[in-house]
Amino acid sequence: MIIARTIGELQKHVAEALSKKMQIGFVPTMGALHKGHIALIERCVKENEFSVCSVFVNPAQFNNREDLKNYPRTEEADLKKLDLAKCNLVFIPTVNEMYPDKKLLEMDFGELERMMEGRFRPGHFKGVATVVYKLFSMVKPHRAYFGEKDFQQLMVIRQLVKQMNMPVEIIPCPTVREDDGVAMSSRNVRLTSDERKAAPVIYQSLLRALKDFKGGNETSEIRKAVKAMVEDEKLFTLEYFELARVDASEGSIALLDKNDSTENVRAFIAVNASAVRLIDNAAL
Ligand code: PAF
Repeated sequence: MIIARTIGELQKHVAEALSKKMQIGFVPTMGALHKGHIALIERCVKENEFSVCSVFVNPAQFNNREDLKNYPRTEEADLKKLDLAKCNLVFIPTVNEMYPDKKLLEMDFGELERMMEGRFRPGHFKGVATVVYKLFSMVKPHRAYFGEKDFQQLMVIRQLVKQMNMPVEIIPCPTVREDDGVAMSSRNVRLTSDERKAAPVIYQSLLRALKDFKGGNETSEIRKAVKAMVEDEKLFTLEYFELARVDASEGSIALLDKNDSTENVRAFIAVNASAVRLIDNAAL
């Protein structure tokens, strides 16, 4: 596996692959790779002739300094996992390499960047869109793979690609879960052992909410029940819970405030534990 640490090295290998008419697949990550990331890489390797993964903890998307400082960094283990998964090239730039002038992309994603993650993490999607735009421009992928665990991010990326007319196919991949239902996330290692034991309640509350929604319960009642279920654990506080209608191919999400049809409905949740914030979502 090639390890590129500069944009120049990366671009040299990308140009070589393109000159051989290879299809390029790309998985952007912030490292601390788990089975969810590896599922993306494996799919990428299967569907493309040259697979690139980036490992870059992007400061521009953190609105909380502690979260950035404590984000797990496990380069050696990541390299081993990528090599085993037969990734062709890993790009590991420094912050200076990626942001020599600290400028961020000025884009307007409308309501999409003001609800849920956008509301509670101001500036987050601007940082995500900037780094993904830069990475797409360098890697020139035919296909890029994103997990549905960050569903709102996936919709922002779809909008980004549409607004900037980027010739890349965005491939959504299902959330990978632990046996007890907890969505895999690099942040899970920062849960205390009691919090980790209690964490299945997050996904369980989503499933219960979707069942109640299908059964015709009012959205406000469902929200109350989710809050009670999550906070009964005493270790978590609910930051938000929303039901929304999504148009995944268009990249749009519209929050529901009262019950109507159950078509394309997804439930979204964010929960705070002592040192970490977890998000999850599920579809009907
Ligand atoms: O999902 C992530 O890990 C990050 O938001 C991404 C897409 C790699 C951009 O930094």
